[in-house]
Amino acid sequence: AIGLKGRDFLGIADYKPEELRYLLNLAIDLKRKQKNGELYQPLKGKTLGMIFEKSSTRTRVSFEVGMYQLGGQALFLSRNDIQMGRGEPIRDTGMVMSRYLDGMIIRTFGHRNVVELARSSTVPVINALSDQSHPCQAMADYQTVLEKKGKLEGLKVVYIGDGNNMLHSLMMGASKLGMHFASASPEGYDPDPEQVRLAREFASDTGAKVDILRDPREAIEGADVVYTDVWASMGFEEEQKERERAFKDYQVNEQLVQSAKQDYLFMHCLPAHRGEEVSEGVIDGPNSVIFDEAENRLHAQKAIMAAIM
Ligand code: CP
Ligand code: NVA
Repeated sequence: AIGLKGRDFLGIADYKPEELRYLLNLAIDLKRKQKNGELYQPLKGKTLGMIFEKSSTRTRVSFEVGMYQLGGQALFLSRNDIQMGRGEPIRDTGMVMSRYLDGMIIRTFGHRNVVELARSSTVPVINALSDQSHPCQAMADYQTVLEKKGKLEGLKVVYIGDGNNMLHSLMMGASKLGMHFASASPEGYDPDPEQVRLAREFASDTGAKVDILRDPREAIEGADVVYTDVWASMGFEEEQKERERAFKDYQVNEQLVQSAKQDYLFMHCLPAHRGEEVSEGVIDGPNSVIFDEAENRLHAQKAIMAAIM
């Protein structure tokens, strides 16, 4: 059996391939239970604290609903309403929160905030998005691919756009799960070289492949999954105009996806800007699975919470 109780979930890099597969299969199982109206409440009487320093629709709602469905309760803690927003150190926050709560999630800017909260907490901490990574989204995404394609190993996942948190988590997941990951980003917007190095290290153990490219047409060749994300992530809004210029040849549109496999899946973590990183025809077209991914946030995170809390 795979025991994950008490672990943090800060990034995909911290989990072994068999642990990730276990969580993905558990997510699919919990989804089936929920659809059948079967109660599954292993977290009865437990409470999750949710610290948010940035906006959220999917993450907040799916964690809150997920915790409720597992029999527990969630508390939304906006940075501006807790003393952390007035400068109380993260480590004191972690120590105090651990005396009340059974688990915490945090959405923040610098990834070191996530690490610091986890270090100072005696209860499991989940990364609900940092500037470095968005592992819960990648888990929901690979659950979706597994459901749609019946397998992950050997599939080609192509990410077009900003070398951001989403790229990092998708690349890490692909490298752990034996997939072929290829990305294309404009100059100056490449992924973090340390993340790439780490992913390639994992890939050498699993038979995965990691190609970091410049040309979207080269990257997308034969793709099973085509993924993109906004050009200006949260915290980078003031760079919107210059990024629009830098990314103008990186739109995922009807012409570009012609080189993907016929039955490719279009994916996007959302929120999306139609007409910028993706054309309306692609994101609202027959290959798009964006709402299945969004739904799977609920199931994937329930699996993570049920396993570690
Ligand atoms: N994809 C995602 O994390 O969405 P939210 O920002 O709405 O939580
Ligand atoms: N890269 C985006 C993802 C949002 C879910 C951001 O960080 O804003």
